[in-house]
Amino acid sequence: MAKMKIAVLISGRGSNLQSLIDACADDGFPAEIAVVIANRPDAKGLQRADEAGIDAKIIDHTAFPTRETFEDMLHATLVTAKVQLVCLAGFMRLLNAGFVNRWRDRMINIHPSLLPAFRGLHTQERAIESGVRYTGCTIHFVRQEMDDGPIILQAVCPIRPDDTADELTARVLDLEHRIYPEAVRLIARGKVRVHGNRALIKDCEWQQNCLINPMIGG
Ligand code: GRF
Repeated sequence: MAKMKIAVLISGRGSNLQSLIDACADDGFPAEIAVVIANRPDAKGLQRADEAGIDAKIIDHTAFPTRETFEDMLHATLVTAKVQLVCLAGFMRLLNAGFVNRWRDRMINIHPSLLPAFRGLHTQERAIESGVRYTGCTIHFVRQEMDDGPIILQAVCPIRPDDTADELTARVLDLEHRIYPEAVRLIARGKVRVHGNRALIKDCEWQQNCLINPMIGG
């Protein structure tokens, strides 16, 4: 079966891009990266694309007079590459409604919290300060509001009382790298359908275990 063509949009380090590159290296993975796009010429992730022999484009938002003209170029580049699914992976530009609607239900994002908690930046610092016992990461379809949209997958990470933001960020990042390829796999296999505010997933196993933190009854 033909592989789904995806684009990965980055602004920086690109460790999630790397997890997708690694997943796509497997012949059985149902998607392939048609293009990597960075809005910053110094994005470290560009080198990862280069090393993997993937077409990488720099579309520097500072070179465009308006958000719309930048997004028109983004859109044209995606269309030219015949992209079917856009994967935002640390892409640090807010996207206008026009662009978001053109890619509605065909654009996903990864966010390092259990949405809808802790939208925006500095998520792990805020999670620690808030005193919650769990945090994690979320893959969701992109809507106009920042870090909003139907949730596809979440992974949960307990917060330890002595956690620093850096330690927690590293543990959550590890989970991010595990779930991003899985979300792409589910979509590419046609298992995900959006119904209202929910993403419905067919033929998958659901977690049955509940967790309590701190543990009780010891
Ligand atoms: C990740 O934590 C992702 O969840 C957030 O930005 C970070 C990007 O990291 N949206 P990387 O560029 O993929 O390494």
